[in-house]
Amino acid sequence: MDYEKLMEKAIEVSEKAYNPYSKFAVGACVLSENEKIYTGCNFENASYGLSICAERNAIGSMIADGERKIKAIAIYSPSMKNCTPCGACRQVIHEFQTEGGTDVITKSGEGLKICKINELLPEGFVL
Ligand code: THU
Repeated sequence: MDYEKLMEKAIEVSEKAYNPYSKFAVGACVLSENEKIYTGCNFENASYGLSICAERNAIGSMIADGERKIKAIAIYSPSMKNCTPCGACRQVIHEFQTEGGTDVITKSGEGLKICKINELLPEGFVL
């Protein structure tokens, strides 16, 4: 699965976001170690703090399917160029990173920007 395809799926699922409060839609697409794909969008709640980010929604589906390592994750918002994950999602991606380091893919203008989770979250928490 190439990263352009992964981003296409993130764009597609961003259209399913439930975002009546912020109006900010996000889609994420995870590529697991075993080349499986999981998508997720953000979904909000009248009790704002209960809102779930697209990234953690997609990662939850990966976990429920028995996969444990994220090779890459594409993230997209129609409202923002190069929409990078929030701090909480960075820590969650960090938990499931691959040995080579998980690629975080965002869309900056027309092209893709790729960086490693450890660049976005140096010295993430480990137990
Ligand atoms: N959001 C995400 O889905 N992912 C992020 O990394 C940043 C924020 C969502 C949460 C909320 O529904 C909306 O974007 C505005 O914060």
